[in-house]
Amino acid sequence: MADPDQVTPDQHKARPHVTIFDTTLRDGEQSPGCSMNVEEKVRMARQLDRLGVDIIEAGFPIASEGDFQAVNALARELRRPIVAALARSCPGDIERAGRALEGAARPRIHTFLATSDIHLQHKLKISRRQCLEQARDGVKLARSFCKDVQFSAEDASRTEINFLCEVLEAVIEAGATTLNIPDTVGFSVPHEFAELIQTLRRRVRGIENEGVTISVHCHDDLGLSVANSLAAIGAGARQVECTVNGIGERAGNTSLEELVMVMRVRGEHYPYETAVVAEQLFPSSQLLSEITGVYVQPHKAIVGRNAFAHEAGIHQDGMIKDPSTYEIIAPQSVGAPQNALVLGKHSGRNALRVRYEKLGFTFDRAQLDDVYRRFVALADKIKTIEDGHLLELIRDVPSRTATIPDSAGKTASTWMAAVSKEDVQPAHPDLVSAREKAHAAHATHGGEREGEQEDYLWGV
Ligand code: KIV
Ligand code: ZN
Repeated sequence: MADPDQVTPDQHKARPHVTIFDTTLRDGEQSPGCSMNVEEKVRMARQLDRLGVDIIEAGFPIASEGDFQAVNALARELRRPIVAALARSCPGDIERAGRALEGAARPRIHTFLATSDIHLQHKLKISRRQCLEQARDGVKLARSFCKDVQFSAEDASRTEINFLCEVLEAVIEAGATTLNIPDTVGFSVPHEFAELIQTLRRRVRGIENEGVTISVHCHDDLGLSVANSLAAIGAGARQVECTVNGIGERAGNTSLEELVMVMRVRGEHYPYETAVVAEQLFPSSQLLSEITGVYVQPHKAIVGRNAFAHEAGIHQDGMIKDPSTYEIIAPQSVGAPQNALVLGKHSGRNALRVRYEKLGFTFDRAQLDDVYRRFVALADKIKTIEDGHLLELIRDVPSRTATIPDSAGKTASTWMAAVSKEDVQPAHPDLVSAREKAHAAHATHGGEREGEQEDYLWGV
């Protein structure tokens, strides 16, 4: 394994590859409401293939006949990505996973066993010695089906460190090629998780072998799964398990889109590359939501409906002048629709002017001031203002360019009926004085345009 400590943020050097192990179809579907049938898994897997993930964990074949069929269908169809099947560290599971992977171009058996005392005592009721033997035997058996075998020490982050090192050494000797270190209950914090990976790299014999990869699998119970995964990469992990939309058991897993985009956008801190095609991130998120009926929260990073929407007047004003003011990612770079200036009570004149121009209307400042005051009164009553409302607002405002189309929405007039004359406030005194100053300056200099600062005050 290459020494990740030697990596520098030098743009010209080839960046180390971080393998993306997608577990949307396994841990992801353990999310309540997210289970998928064979046909749905096949549809989603084809999209994951387009997305460019390296490994698709297709399911847990012992869990159900449907999951066995899904893993088998994907094993037979997919040629580029590795197809992984999950198995507990016991013969029945491993044999079933091995059979489900028949026909795969690149099969991987992912076998796991809990190693923390909490799990050994309360759940498995076995000793550490038994655990170590079971883990080693599981890997040996898995190797008889395929040469690519991953071992996960479930609840690794709460496992006594000497024992964890012992188990990992034993499974490497037995032939494990990937060692997965799960933060199963999402308990770790980034510096601690990084230290764990560093300790394992220092202490586990064989971990540095060519062909042995350290992987991490983080849950989001404290909202730290992406941060923990990134910290682990910095400490030498070269595979991350993650899911589209961050779905997964309880609070979910590391969100694939967030992880990948942090590395893209902040490459100076995370000088690594993945094979993910960023333009497929949004379509993947959409497809998953469509299949499962589970939608992400509107403010979800990268793929949420509002991830590229701007409502505050100050922000809208900046966006109109230059998107770099308030956007660190171009929406089209992740396959999302063009950014939207949402009109609501925080919006400003500039955004209103731009939207009216799109509808075919231009106003001078005094007209727009007037329309803006009506707009704010309406926006205080309803959450989002649509084009139909805007058309209704200017019914009696003489426009420079156009007449109001007949198609002005009926619903808009219903809403407008709620705006009485008393609702329409006079312009804010600050704005009035800014405008007066600008007009004075305008008169003095005879210029066409008011000062930039006044423009900014007026625009929002
Ligand atoms: O959270 C976990 O520990 C798991 C393992 C099976 C990898 O999902
Ligand atoms: Zn998990």
